[in-house]
This record gives sequence, C-alpha cells and structure tokens, in this order.
Amino acid sequence: MMENKRRLSFISELVEPNWRFWSLVVILLLSAGALFLYPVSEYQGYVDPFYSPTVLVLPFIALFRLSCYAYRKDYHRHVFRHPMACLNDERMDSSKRKYTGETGFFALNNFHRYFFYIGLAILPFFYYDFYTSLVYESGFFIFRVGSILLLVNALLLTLWTISCHAFRHLIGGSVDCYSCLSHGSGVKKLFNGQSLLNRYHEQFAFVSLLVVVAVDLYIRALMAGWPVDFTFFKIAI
Ligand code: FES
Repeated sequence: MMENKRRLSFISELVEPNWRFWSLVVILLLSAGALFLYPVSEYQGYVDPFYSPTVLVLPFIALFRLSCYAYRKDYHRHVFRHPMACLNDERMDSSKRKYTGETGFFALNNFHRYFFYIGLAILPFFYYDFYTSLVYESGFFIFRVGSILLLVNALLLTLWTISCHAFRHLIGGSVDCYSCLSHGSGVKKLFNGQSLLNRYHEQFAFVSLLVVVAVDLYIRALMAGWPVDFTFFKIAI
C-alpha cells in the first residue's frame, strides 16, 4: 500500500505541469520525428541547422545540450525534483528516494567540456550556411528573410557556446590567483567579458534551441509552398 502511494507520488510529480520543460520535450520529440521521417537538408540555398555540417554530428550536439548546466538544472529541479537548489538536501516529496548525485548514466555529464569542444568546432559551419544562402544563385548576391534567420541562429548558437561554463575553464582555468592578474591582462579581460555573457547562459541555452527548431520549421514551410520568404535585394556580382 505504502509502496503504491510512493509510486503514485512519483508519477504525479513527473507529470506535474511545468510548461517550460514539457514544451521542450514535445518540441524535441516532434523535431526528431520530422528530422528522421521527413529529412530536409537544404532548400533554395538554406541549409537546415540540424544538418549543419551533417546530421551525423547530431548525437554529439544532443549530448552537448543535455549535459549543459542550464538543462541539468532544469531536469534535476523539475523532473527529478532533487536537488531543488544548491546545498538543499531536502527532497520536495515524501517518497524517500535517494539522491545519488551525477553517477551512473549521469556521470556522462562530466564529459561536457569535450562536447563543448565539438560544439565550438561546428560553429563556423552555421556562418558558412549564412554565406551560402547569400550567394546560392550563381552570379548574384541575394538577401532574403531566411538569410536573416540563419544569421540570428548562428549568433545565438555562438552566444550559447561561448557563454558556456566549460569555456570559462578554458580561458581562466589555468590561473591560480585570479585577483593577482594585472588590470591590463588579456586573460583577465577575456574572462571578465565571458563572465558578462555567462550570466545569461541559461537564456541563451533555451532561446537558441527554440530558434534552431524555428529555422527548421521555416525551411519546411518553404518546401511546402508557404509564401513566407521575401527578397530584400538582389545584385549581380
Ligand atoms: Fe551550458 Fe556548457 S554549461 S553549454
């Protein structure tokens, strides 16, 4: 009886409305279905961000996302319900499930910095896709709504990646006494600049994911014949 109650309490917590987390789950599932059932890699010079540079790197990008601190915080607090905050060892339920830390499968999160290196290496391809969209008609430079979307997507992914905590480590991790650095020190300047971006890392993480999905849907809408593209100008080169 007691066991059943615990089980029910666990299930009711899991499905408790948390619009941000569950809307992300739905978006990811729909995207996965769309990606693999109806693959779209390129249309009218627009490269789908899920295929940049190739769909084969998606598992690494997915691991980069899933091991990101922003998402970790979200699934620990809102799905597993533990820990609810730093240094808060109290569970928010009565099921007495033990917190095992990031062990077992979740030990994979420790590889985040290596997934970060892969993410960093892939960034230039998004800018190349933007460039390709501008020159896809040979002999012309063409600027369209879709190109703006590709650029916004590249910029948001860049902000998300370079505001990563692993990047902080890469920049300042080798410094023992940070306050001993002179004011003019390049490392200090870089680290302070990155710290500014790092404050908004969580926002960049969620907005960049939504924009990747939005760009994919936009390209699919174009393929379906929706009149959602517009050319601002086209000049011969
Ligand atoms: Fe979020 Fe590294 S902590 S990408």
